[in-house]
Amino acid sequence: MKIIKPLALKMSIFAGHLQLMQLIESIHGLKEKLAFYKKNGKIGFVPTMGALHKGHLSLVNRCAEENQCSVVSIYVNPTQFNDKNDLNRYPRNLELDLGLLANCNCDFVFAPGDDEMYPVPDMRKFNFGLLETVMEGKFRPGHFNGVAQIVSKLFDAVQPDRAYFGLKDFQQLAVIKKMAIDYNYPVEIVPCDIVREADGLAMSSRNALLEPEKRNAAPFIYNSLLFASELSKTKSPGEIKQEINMLYQKNTELELEYFEIVDNNSLLPVEHFGNKNLCTACIAVFAGKIRLIDNIQFNS
Ligand code: PAJ
Repeated sequence: MKIIKPLALKMSIFAGHLQLMQLIESIHGLKEKLAFYKKNGKIGFVPTMGALHKGHLSLVNRCAEENQCSVVSIYVNPTQFNDKNDLNRYPRNLELDLGLLANCNCDFVFAPGDDEMYPVPDMRKFNFGLLETVMEGKFRPGHFNGVAQIVSKLFDAVQPDRAYFGLKDFQQLAVIKKMAIDYNYPVEIVPCDIVREADGLAMSSRNALLEPEKRNAAPFIYNSLLFASELSKTKSPGEIKQEINMLYQKNTELELEYFEIVDNNSLLPVEHFGNKNLCTACIAVFAGKIRLIDNIQFNS
């Protein structure tokens, strides 16, 4: 049940509707507003980099349903981009995002600038052990350190009871879970299912950057994961990897960066299937200049 919001909340008009949603840009302002909710209910939090789509909104809707107060952050975090071109071309559209959030029962949108989040360079080095040596960690050096820097700052600012992360970023979820344990954040990390387009492509802010022929080719990524899952009924992880690699060699539109079958907890590649329910196939593919990731949980 939603608690009654304090009258002090400003009303804003988004998409023609009167909404009780507030945009906040400073950590100080956010803390001030959230103090009431911290005492009187649960705060749910969805960190994002904006350019919102239905995948993000599924997290926000769930967050709003399960908590008395829902906070969404929108911040394109420079420290997690190992490729400056990727950072520069990352889509940004705050007004559109606000309109979408206003229809999701979101209470607060926290959209800080760089000076607010990084008044001085963040020199912290996180250590996630083997978790960050594989897949995204291997191909995007420093990426998870940047993710941990910003998520820890956001957790400090919001102090959420629950934080919602998509399984789309499977390895990010594992890293955040570890960070919450290692640093004693009193927050429940809630994993949320992957939302897909009708043709199977996992929703991503980067999909909007795909050239038309690459967008047409991109559903192949999820189809190759479904194929891998089917193969897992009869083949070993090594054999499946070989078949998937061959599939991509024949595909002229997409370039495979990695395909791995990993243990859900350690994220290390599995050589033999024990309990298949504990294995996930993860993939990263270049569609032209745009890098897309996806994954599928196997089941026995
Ligand atoms: P971003 O890519 O904007 O994603 C924000 C959240 O939405 C993440 O938890 C991500 O896993 C989830 N998400 C994205 N696409 C999804 C989909 N198709 N289905 C379900 N969930 C999806 O992930 C980040 O931002 C950043 O790294 C962040 C955590 C905000 C730190 O900067």
